[in-house]
Amino acid sequence: ESIEKGGFEHFMLKEIYEQPRSVHDTLRGRVSAKQGHLVLGGLRQYLHTMINAKRIIILGCGTSWHAGLVAEYIFEEFARIPVEVEYASEFRYRNPVIYEGDVVIAISQSGETADTLAAIELAKSKGAIIFGVCNVVGSSIPRVTHEGAYTHAGPEIGVASTKAFTAQVTVLSMMAVMIAYRKGTIKETRFREMLVEFEQLPDKIEKALQLDQQIQYIAEQIKDADNALFLGRGYNFPVALEGALKLKEISYIHAEGYPAAEMKHGPIALIDEAMPVVFIATQDSSYEKIISNIREVKARHGKVIAVVTEGDAEIRHMADHVLEVPAAHEALMPIIAVIPLQLLSYHIAVMRGCNVDQPRNLAKSVTVE
Ligand code: G6P
Repeated sequence: ESIEKGGFEHFMLKEIYEQPRSVHDTLRGRVSAKQGHLVLGGLRQYLHTMINAKRIIILGCGTSWHAGLVAEYIFEEFARIPVEVEYASEFRYRNPVIYEGDVVIAISQSGETADTLAAIELAKSKGAIIFGVCNVVGSSIPRVTHEGAYTHAGPEIGVASTKAFTAQVTVLSMMAVMIAYRKGTIKETRFREMLVEFEQLPDKIEKALQLDQQIQYIAEQIKDADNALFLGRGYNFPVALEGALKLKEISYIHAEGYPAAEMKHGPIALIDEAMPVVFIATQDSSYEKIISNIREVKARHGKVIAVVTEGDAEIRHMADHVLEVPAAHEALMPIIAVIPLQLLSYHIAVMRGCNVDQPRNLAKSVTVE
């Protein structure tokens, strides 16, 4: 087993560190900025169905559902297709309205999640066209979908999903950009810009991993907290949800992710000096708004840890700790901004003596409902 961990103490840490490579593998043969192409080989016969879709329903559970939320933002912004992201377990039991020719994207690392499988069967029986985004080649979900794209992240052993998430978001973003370009909702220049952005991802993830030492220091400061709050807006809202999920599942600290502006409608009541609040506050279209949310937390003596864009001068004066990640197009920022949050939960869990790779009560693949 120690050989399989490749010198790392846990599978989770190994998988976090594999991400420059795994995202590179996800992009390989699909994106070329030089040649100006973006091809997903698995999308052929039904590509036009997706291009012409009146709406898209995304299905998933856990971390895969979070990847779906990121996809909602990018599909709507770039391809101008309305998207609904659904928990497979809710969707399957509520007699959903599905029209003949509706497009469904089912996301699953394992390809074996029982609720996701059942939700696919239901949508299929009502005439929907199903696309799969799965990691395990030949698993059940890719066998029942019409078409799809594998994430190619390699085997993920740690129960808490890390490299599968970044690969899922990469594939879904490629789909959205490709569909948008074919539909004409983005022009050639924007399309080419995005191809360059895709190709830069592995190097930017590598840079984000260099925050590890600093993150260990922060983990030491907050490891004894009973609660934590993760806040983000826009593309970074799903990142906040994912950061909170990582922390609770492996360290057993109660954590909640919220859209930063919703904080006023509840979580703000919990903020005091004992409450770490993690902001994902990179420089994007909601930057000014999130700065006021940081002020609100500081006014209530919350401890602020902020993931910011490299060189950010403003938040540095407000936050207790800043973690600088490389600049990127805001649509792809979740793939970079999640890295420090994965490392933060990992280190906190290790410091609390938790079983990081096999957290209590959790399973890697939930094949029963
Ligand atoms: C379990 C795993 C999670 C995963 C979720 C969905 O809860 O512990 O890491 O996100 O199932 O699994 P899937 O394989 O469908 O992505």
